[in-house]
Amino acid sequence: NSPLKVAVLGCGSVGSQVVRLLQEQSDDLAARIGAPIELAGVAVRRLDAPREVELPDELLTTDAIGLVTRGDIDLVVEVIGGIEPARSLILAALENGASVVTANKALLAEDGPTLYEAADKAGRDLYFEAAVAGAIPILRPLRESLAGDKVTRVLGIVNGTTNFILDKMDTSGAGFADALSEAQDLGYAEADPTADVEGFDAAAKAAILASLAFHTRVTAADVYREGISEVTAADVASARDMGSVVKLLAICELRDGAVSARVHPAMIPASHPLASVRGAYNAVFVESEAAGQLMFYGPGAGGSPTASAVLGDLVTVARNKLAGTRGAGESAYAARELLPMGET
Ligand code: HSE
Repeated sequence: NSPLKVAVLGCGSVGSQVVRLLQEQSDDLAARIGAPIELAGVAVRRLDAPREVELPDELLTTDAIGLVTRGDIDLVVEVIGGIEPARSLILAALENGASVVTANKALLAEDGPTLYEAADKAGRDLYFEAAVAGAIPILRPLRESLAGDKVTRVLGIVNGTTNFILDKMDTSGAGFADALSEAQDLGYAEADPTADVEGFDAAAKAAILASLAFHTRVTAADVYREGISEVTAADVASARDMGSVVKLLAICELRDGAVSARVHPAMIPASHPLASVRGAYNAVFVESEAAGQLMFYGPGAGGSPTASAVLGDLVTVARNKLAGTRGAGESAYAARELLPMGET
């Protein structure tokens, strides 16, 4: 088969690891897909920025829209993040016949339906495993493996930065500010950590999890949200005295036909499997009628783990493209009308 051409949009911590894996694993990927993957271009904001991966100059461009609309791109990987220009670039890529893999939780949580509908209309794939809980395969299990079951609850620790902070407060007695500053020193939290500590990042992920778990459409605005900046060392210590730990949980539930999604700090008993999730790790605990309880655990952030999920999606969409097929469109999953939020 002739090579499939891939454009990568963004070359930050995730994009550079995607490019590295594409380069290092090109033979294995070609064997698994049935055609070689050719890196056709990498769109960046600045050509002279320092990068974690070596790239020939001719592959770099600042013209992202020119790259996705040039007519010969089969697959687009969007790892720029944020709403714009990511949304316009994804829509342009789909309109120009490319399938898209994205890690963009904020965009999916805010305006997912626009993207799903564009993918359906174009007859192309839109995959986004990396948008929730980094390397942990959780979206495909919800979309596919559990599609014959009825998921009733999803409980997740889906933000590594806040889990690190709460864990640090628990194990060392540190206050919130000191634990946050350590998370920043270690590179977990952003310089402006608001999205992490105030729960916006977890709320976006909760919206995506609830949408897939309950086959409906939930946006970030539907998610009740409370962060961890008000959690004190005394709160954490008294939870410990009661045999519990404090975790920032994303809680998505289906009750009496209504869906609710919320993010807030919660005390959970030390015996619960989520209590043992330490440091910057993530875990998602799923309850369904037939399967019972399932837990998915692993690294939820970081360039290389997130790139692992992106590459997995890339292999799937590349195989679909070669087979002249596509995964079931998102609208096929969103079969349920979103009923008014249940009392929580
Ligand atoms: N800031 C996020 C976290 C990165 O700490 O989990 C992954 O989405």
